[in-house]
Amino acid sequence: MSMGKKLMNWVDARFPATETYEYHMSKYYAPKNFNFWYFFGVLSMVVLVNQLVTGIWLTMMFNPSAEGAFASVEYIMRDVEGGWLIRYMHSTGASAFFVVVYLHMFRGLLYGSYKKPRELVWIIGMGIYLCLMAEGFFGYLLPWGNMSFWGAQVILNLPAAIPFIGDALGEWVKGDYIISGITLNRFFALHVVAIPLILVGLVFVHLVALHHVGSNNPDGIDIKKLKDKNGVPLDGVAFHPYYTVHDLVGIVVFFMVFFAVVFFFPEGGGYFLEPPNFEAANPLKTPDHIAPVWYYTPFYAMLRATPSMFGSALPGVVVMGASIAILFVLPWLDKSPVRSIRYKGILSKIALVIFVISFLILGYLGVIPSSDLATLIARICTVLYFLFFLLMPVYTSMETCKQPPERVTGGH
Ligand code: HEM
Repeated sequence: MSMGKKLMNWVDARFPATETYEYHMSKYYAPKNFNFWYFFGVLSMVVLVNQLVTGIWLTMMFNPSAEGAFASVEYIMRDVEGGWLIRYMHSTGASAFFVVVYLHMFRGLLYGSYKKPRELVWIIGMGIYLCLMAEGFFGYLLPWGNMSFWGAQVILNLPAAIPFIGDALGEWVKGDYIISGITLNRFFALHVVAIPLILVGLVFVHLVALHHVGSNNPDGIDIKKLKDKNGVPLDGVAFHPYYTVHDLVGIVVFFMVFFAVVFFFPEGGGYFLEPPNFEAANPLKTPDHIAPVWYYTPFYAMLRATPSMFGSALPGVVVMGASIAILFVLPWLDKSPVRSIRYKGILSKIALVIFVISFLILGYLGVIPSSDLATLIARICTVLYFLFFLLMPVYTSMETCKQPPERVTGGH
């Protein structure tokens, strides 16, 4: 027996190394018909690693104080060797994270990946999404630019809309009467330690839950029903080496696009790094137009479009909260006998198209200054957004679906 094999046996007798590797990699049978949409899970992991690594490097040079934060970012950009690259990889990575995660979630909607038995995979995914939103928000205050300050001002004033405890809650979150260095300090702790820990933990259980039930696929059919004499699904291929090599192609293409942005387009036309953030935070100078970063804008548009009640923004806060909360119960709203949009009826297809268009319009409206027309359109799109979910039990149970095939279609 070779030394390597002996060592592995020694380890395996004490820790399930080979067993775990086989369970998750070489003997994890994934459907052979994965398509484009299935790249975004692994890409989310790649971006997560990018954020963790570049984030740790930035932390080495960043000064988390109201006096030093802005200057330390300038120092990283101008004086630290390669600092500009690390910083742009991190700031572009934040937007890239939401691009890949939104596409990843959309795949779930397309192929009904949230349906039984993957409800927990979806719910854990929603937990990840919430953490990502918090992570982005806390991170955005750190460079202490003028948009960092005023953006946080808008969001941290929202708790004040909650009756009775609102004002006290707002102060408690800020740690001060106004957003100050104290707020910056706690956001730093949350951004670099607390949320990343939760995020990594959630991604781990996301994958454990997924591998327990097995991956869905573009046909939305169960590949475990048909197995060969060794118990291997007829339509499955071993994750390693087949999908590791396949995913590598996606990762390389992703990095080509990602670094094209990092090197040539790091501000993303003012959407990835907003112009007011090139000035230090100034409590006496409100930016002309306060807009959150693009990935929050659909929800921001809903918040802005909801009429206030007795001068309170509470209804907007409730609508915005509900727009995310409703995604958690999605697995129980879809009553369709099939999973994939390929076999669902026409109503589901129309509903999904309307939903996507409304979401994109809301995203656009969230970045432009508000006007009467914009508010009207945002209200219509908000209603359509909610109708997609609220009417789902109705249209998914009344439409006629196509019979899905026995075996997956496509694949190599
Ligand atoms: C850091 C963020 C995330 C990471 C690293 C991640 C990672 C992954 C990976 C590697 C897979 C398996 C490969 C694939 O199916 O693409 C997967 C599957 C899945 N993820 Fe995520 N995910 C993240 C966020 C989310 C979010 C926000 C949701 C939804 C709310 C979600 C829902 C799902 C679902 C439903 C599946 C199963 C898909 C299927 O089998 O068709 N994930 N995830």
